[in-house]
Amino acid sequence: MEIGPIKVDTPVLLAPMAAVTDLPFRTICEEFGVGITVTEFLSAHALHAGAKKTVDKLTPSLNGRQFGVQIFGREDDAMTHAAKMAVDIGACLVDINMGCPAKRVTAGACGSALMREPELAAHLVKVVINAVPSHIPVTVKHRAGWDMQSINSPEFACAMVEAGAKMITVHGRTRSQGYSGVADLEIIRKTREAVPKHIPVVGNGDVVDVDGYFRMMEHTGADAVMIGRGARGNPWLFHRLKQIIDGNDDPGEPTLEERINVFKRHIDLMAEHKAGPRLIHEIRKACAWYARGLHGCNTFRQKVWQLETAEEVVECAKEYFDWLLKKGSRGIPNIPTAA
Ligand SMILES: Cc1cc2nc3c(=O)[nH]c(=O)nc-3n(C[C@H](O)[C@H](O)[C@H](O)COP(=O)(O)O)c2cc1C
Repeated sequence: MEIGPIKVDTPVLLAPMAAVTDLPFRTICEEFGVGITVTEFLSAHALHAGAKKTVDKLTPSLNGRQFGVQIFGREDDAMTHAAKMAVDIGACLVDINMGCPAKRVTAGACGSALMREPELAAHLVKVVINAVPSHIPVTVKHRAGWDMQSINSPEFACAMVEAGAKMITVHGRTRSQGYSGVADLEIIRKTREAVPKHIPVVGNGDVVDVDGYFRMMEHTGADAVMIGRGARGNPWLFHRLKQIIDGNDDPGEPTLEERINVFKRHIDLMAEHKAGPRLIHEIRKACAWYARGLHGCNTFRQKVWQLETAEEVVECAKEYFDWLLKKGSRGIPNIPTAA
């Protein structure tokens, strides 16, 4: 897939997710072959004001891998400054969030609220394009529409493309649905049909496995699929999809040993890049993700939440995974062991 001048080898993208797609998480997904990652959405206003918490989240991918930065806002100055900051840290694309349903975002008429103001949304695309060098594509991620009475994804996407957007991602839910119900593949298909062919349209919503990827591609004709929640604790999905797309055999589910090794790698990346009081919280989240579906995971999760230091949590995870390894594959749903 090509996004302006950017080539993406595998048509599978990691969805931006606030408090999830930080540098360690993106790195893990990149190591498993995801096509490209994007930072979580960052307030243009906060970046413009130099708010440390937000500026700290503006992190380039490791080892020179290409990555995008997602920003949200509605003020020209802030959007211009934020886009320039993204380019300064090496972003290869700038994505504008026009899909966030959160009240704190839509109350400021940002995120999905922009779907009700297509003219302003198109203006913001132009503002960001003017702020960045011509080789940096500006892209838009939006929803099916504001609510069921105002589904406007196809027209909205076309207006963004006319303003200069080089890729459209559609999450097939409305703002009022939040994350409930199921993503509507039909509205993604209609959007793909409406948008000029040379502009990639990415389908997003509810893809959590290999079948879901093919369902999305086949039903919508999308150029790529974006995966969010299904990647938490499951970066192998990117590896499996890459292998299958490249024409190789499906490597299948990871072994328990592989799962544990990736958990450890994720924790190491966190320790390296997320020092400070948030570290223990991030490690607890990773414990829950990687243990999901494993024998005794609920007890393990509860225990981890009671511990007070990152070291204790890591030790507890080690004991839990050692215990699972000793048990072998018996009683561990769907997880083959290496043997
Ligand atoms: C915890 C969480 C945080 C999210 N943060 C963002 C965000 O920062 N920017 C954005 O465009 N979408 C965000 N989303 C929406 C996802 O990118 C994606 O559109 C949505 O989860 C549907 O895809 P999925 O079913 O594959 O998860 C977030 C979703 C979740 C669950």
